[in-house]
Amino acid sequence: VGGRAKKIQMMLRLRKMLKYRKMVEKEIKQLIPAELSDFHVYKPIHYMLDAGGKFVRPILMILSCEAVGGNYEDILPGASGIELGHVASLVHDDIIDGSHIRRGVVSIHEKFGVHDAILSGDLLIFHTFLGLAKTSERGASADRVVDAIKVLAKSGIDLVVGQELESKYTGKLDTTEEEYIHVIRYKTGSYLRDICKMGAIIGGGNEKAVNALAEYGENLGIAFQIKDDILSLTKSEKEIMKTPESDIKQKTVTLPIIYALNNADADDSKEIKRIFSTEMPTREDFLRIAIIVKNAGVIPKTEKTARSYAEKAEKSLNIIPSSPSKKLLLEFVDFVVERTY
Ligand code: IPE
Ligand code: IPE
Ligand code: MG
Repeated sequence: VGGRAKKIQMMLRLRKMLKYRKMVEKEIKQLIPAELSDFHVYKPIHYMLDAGGKFVRPILMILSCEAVGGNYEDILPGASGIELGHVASLVHDDIIDGSHIRRGVVSIHEKFGVHDAILSGDLLIFHTFLGLAKTSERGASADRVVDAIKVLAKSGIDLVVGQELESKYTGKLDTTEEEYIHVIRYKTGSYLRDICKMGAIIGGGNEKAVNALAEYGENLGIAFQIKDDILSLTKSEKEIMKTPESDIKQKTVTLPIIYALNNADADDSKEIKRIFSTEMPTREDFLRIAIIVKNAGVIPKTEKTARSYAEKAEKSLNIIPSSPSKKLLLEFVDFVVERTY
């Protein structure tokens, strides 16, 4: 019964977010007008945009803007651009990770080739900046827009550094929890932090409010990535709509693996070490690791760590005055740690 009630609660929450999602979808169509779509390089972009996604980032940006008293109309092109920047990171990430499925469809580099995947990802990055700059046409003041653009550029740098950092730890089973958190703080935390920060800047928040929302976003991002790493080991490709074995094939040492190494019996630990020292782990190796992690009983502990960052995110909002947007930001935290996809 508890599980069902939770599911219903989650659906209700998602319904409230739907309004924002619809606005963003409409705005994206304006950012990438039909005449541009005649160029072949836009085909993969439309293909991936049509596949959907959770729209976590644009919604967070709009809510952050509103939470400091800003107007969602000012931020809309920026938030839509932010979704495009996220898609760019996914397209390039799938090339790096050799992932076959993204958002339930064949990944761009596999369907259109690496050449088109690189170009369409690049294109999306420029659309991100264009979208953010366009907030000035909707009423955001020029100085706020310049500040936000600076944040976006720095954010992209952090994201790339995070990706690079991740490969530094590839296959290193002695990676500590602190090192893992350090990597995901850059890789995922930075973009969510800066999205909330930009939302608050465009919304006209004071320095304290901007910092509070940035802290919220960073901790939420860390919780989001931990949860993502759990889902990859506990859910099917159909459920998460992307390739679950990518982390293991890449020999990325995620938190459930770090915990499992401490908890598993000698044979299982040895098996993890064997798999992580092979040239290219297979899907069978991945399935074996998933079972070992489950049997080691470390998923609840990993969930608890995700929740601890989620709680930090919640606490960061203490100084933000109550409003419907703040309420949704708090509900977002629950969605991130309770999500099943
Ligand atoms: C996937 O992000 C990349 C990570 C940071 C884990 P999302 O899970 O938000 O992807 P979409 O947008 O819903 O496809
Ligand atoms: C997240 O990396 C991608 C970025 C933050 C750019 P992952 O490789 O962990 O995410 P998925 O599992 O492919 O979505
Ligand atoms: Mg990946």
